[in-house]
Amino acid sequence: MFVNFRRIRRCQRLQLLTTCLVLSLLMVCWEQLDQNVVNHVRSYSYRYLDNRFTFIKESFTIPQEEALSFSKYRFLLDHRDKCANQDVLLLLFVKTSPENTGRRRAIRSTWGNESFIRHILGANVKVIFVLGAPGATPEGLTESYKAVLQQRLVREDRLNGDLIQRDFADTFHNLTLKLIQQFHWAHANCGHARFVMTADDDVFVHMPNLVSYLLEEAGRGVADFWIGRVHRGAPPIRDKSSKYYVSREMYPWSTYPDYTAGAGYVVSGDVAEKIYRATLRLNASIYIDDVFMGICAHSAGVAPQEHVYFSGEGKAPYHVCIYDQMMTSHGHVEDIHDLWRVATDPLVKQRTSGFLGRLYCKAAKLALLCKPYHFNTYPCKGAFA
Ligand SMILES: *[C@@H]1O[C@H](CO)[C@@H](O)[C@H](O)[C@H]1NC(C)=O
Ligand SMILES: *[C@@H]1O[C@H](CO)[C@@H](O)[C@H](O)[C@H]1NC(C)=O
Ligand SMILES: *[C@@H]1O[C@H](CO)[C@@H](O)[C@H](O)[C@H]1NC(C)=O
Repeated sequence: MFVNFRRIRRCQRLQLLTTCLVLSLLMVCWEQLDQNVVNHVRSYSYRYLDNRFTFIKESFTIPQEEALSFSKYRFLLDHRDKCANQDVLLLLFVKTSPENTGRRRAIRSTWGNESFIRHILGANVKVIFVLGAPGATPEGLTESYKAVLQQRLVREDRLNGDLIQRDFADTFHNLTLKLIQQFHWAHANCGHARFVMTADDDVFVHMPNLVSYLLEEAGRGVADFWIGRVHRGAPPIRDKSSKYYVSREMYPWSTYPDYTAGAGYVVSGDVAEKIYRATLRLNASIYIDDVFMGICAHSAGVAPQEHVYFSGEGKAPYHVCIYDQMMTSHGHVEDIHDLWRVATDPLVKQRTSGFLGRLYCKAAKLALLCKPYHFNTYPCKGAFA
């Protein structure tokens, strides 16, 4: 009797387990199916609208004198010889604002530590902070406070020598000016860098993973390279209360050309040069910088490629199997030191390698990335990458 009872229980347990497995598999597939449907609808409308994209190029093209007005601002801080007489694997621009001193300090002592990258990772990476002048915030800055902030920046720059600042108000709606500043500076002072990257100052970059990936790509003689989290067929936001609101006068079409999330993306040197040239003839008044980047790239005939371990708005799950592959993760300020420590620990490689390590990571990543309705992190495909 007792044995039978146990057997039934075991049977039921097995049934329950199988049901759960099937259900979760279904949910995983549904997410992909759902995603697929959405992507198809988008890509069809994208194809349908493809003709209009030439329209975009035409309507954004302006005379060069007028295009140059977006880059006329004088330099307040500059380091023109940063790249001189040396091979540079990566020129990394961090978009920052005058008041974000703490973020810059944290980056310099973690993933942006050039001497660590040179001595431990064996690569020459230039980390440069790009900013505008202390500008109007919603509360409004008084002139004397702006002057104090500027003095503080001058001192910070004297110590670190890594700020590039131009004289435009550092505001959200001037981000496109900051983008132009980067590509113009790269063209003028670091045209030989193999790669150029743009990152927000609250992004975590897994420098060891990124460097080994870029070294591998560079070895292949990479060209026409633009990677990050890709937004395909993203529609302009017409809700006036949104930070990303774009009026129909500014952008009348219903979809943007493909672009990578501004939080962090990498282009090869040849693409950086093409973007620079595009900025010499396009109207940069659209203030969403990553969208403007998409417009420039489209007009230069460059298309972005997805890398699943570049995050857009999202934050990576804290897990050893994720650290093994992550490139960027968004939204790290307080935890940047801790994350740098655990994500670059040699234990990560130990625990994720070998047959058992890989098996464990496959399961862990499935559980972390393929949860249905769990967005804002790396996509489920990351579990299979
Ligand atoms: C950068 O890394 C080096 C080790 O290569 C270390 O000695 C130095 O203290 C680090 N710099 C900062 C600011 O943490
Ligand atoms: C952008 O910067 C310019 C130059 O400082 C300034 O006049 C303008 O108001 C800024 N635009 C926005 C939207 O903040
Ligand atoms: C650039 O676009 C804006 C609207 O987005 C428009 O007001 C402006 O006149 C355009 N500039 C030129 C030079 O056509």
